[in-house]
Amino acid sequence: GKDPRIAKIASSIRVIPDFPKPGIMFQDITTLLLDTEAFKDTIALFVERYQGRGISVVAGVEARGFIFGPPIALAIGAKFVPMRKPKKLPGKVISEEYSLEYGTDKMEMHVGAVEPGERAIIIDDLIATGGTLAAAIRLLERVGVKIVECACVIELPELKGKEKLGDAPLFVLVSSA
Ligand code: PRP
Repeated sequence: GKDPRIAKIASSIRVIPDFPKPGIMFQDITTLLLDTEAFKDTIALFVERYQGRGISVVAGVEARGFIFGPPIALAIGAKFVPMRKPKKLPGKVISEEYSLEYGTDKMEMHVGAVEPGERAIIIDDLIATGGTLAAAIRLLERVGVKIVECACVIELPELKGKEKLGDAPLFVLVSSA
């Protein structure tokens, strides 16, 4: 059976229809963050899953991966590595392009943030098409990092984003129809 904490987490997420555009059901995790029990349980579920597995890197995807990643990293004794939008990081970067509904975007990571052979998880709030997480996987794999798993609070399974992640497993707390 499912962990009883999951239902409370799911019900703490607010769904806003037609944001930011008509037809999109926006999954708003800010209400989860206001619910101290749901937020604590969210972090605890990830920590329980990843502690003791030799993970030295928690990579968080801008922007909402920056909310969930750091408390997980601190709890499991891993470093937190931000995966950023272009032109935000001041040092030398490597970057990966990925496609959006219209056009492309880029994700960047600092050179030297991770070492070949390290074991990482990648955290974001939500997987939709999977393009964002796929870019994060490519960035880390280019530097020889092993992706243990991608972890998201929410999955939109109809968009089949999981299929874009190759061999990297996906763990999600809540599936949203
Ligand atoms: C959202 C979400 C994921 C991404 C998922 O971020 O937080 O990062 O989209 O979409 P995908 O699976 O189709 O790639 P958004 O692009 O809104 O950026 P933001 O969090 O910086 O606002």
